[in-house]
Amino acid sequence: MNNRSQNRIIIDGVEVEFSNGETIYEAATRHGATIPTLCYDPRLNPFGACRLCVVEVEGVRNPVASCTTKATPGTVVHTSSPTLDLHRKTLLEMVASENDALAVDPLRGYASQELTQLVAQYRAATDRFAGQHSGHSKFEDDNPFILRDYNKCISCYRCVRVCAEQEGDYAISVMNRGFHTQITTEFNGLLRDSACTFCGQCVQTCPTGALGDKKALRFIEENI
Ligand code: FES
Repeated sequence: MNNRSQNRIIIDGVEVEFSNGETIYEAATRHGATIPTLCYDPRLNPFGACRLCVVEVEGVRNPVASCTTKATPGTVVHTSSPTLDLHRKTLLEMVASENDALAVDPLRGYASQELTQLVAQYRAATDRFAGQHSGHSKFEDDNPFILRDYNKCISCYRCVRVCAEQEGDYAISVMNRGFHTQITTEFNGLLRDSACTFCGQCVQTCPTGALGDKKALRFIEENI
């Protein structure tokens, strides 16, 4: 048997091919499946933090994160079911309960409506787990380009990862854990004192609008 005939899995009842090294998420979405994600960015190494991309794999007891699970020949995958919907809705309710305002101006960053749209799609309650918040906003950050509104942060680490993996700058990092998680810079200082080049990649990848483009926001204030 050659590689081509070996590399097949069943996704939602359809046999599909995958390439060596591909994840279930990559194979499934390439063949038209829709799987929700929050910490996924196709440019970045899989991280597996949000668990929103879970799918059911026959023979595996618990749902698996499709963005970090490699496709293997013969696997039978289901990308949607009432159980998965409930799982995703509950995860979104946990995330949304931490987020003080889901409706964020789209001009803060092109990806900033991701969380808002998913919450609406799954009809997730936004106050079910209301309570403690992680992260403190850095409105006072004295730089002309990037707003850091961590009240809207969900700790997906996409900004941290894009800064390191795509830019090689390592300007953004993380301190503490759990509800005390804080996206920060070295010594929790200002961005302008860090290795940040203000490339804007972090703003573009942020799924919630926690990071904003100050120039775009100034334009809105002055013209609308
Ligand atoms: S998108 Fe797969 S765990 Fe977040």
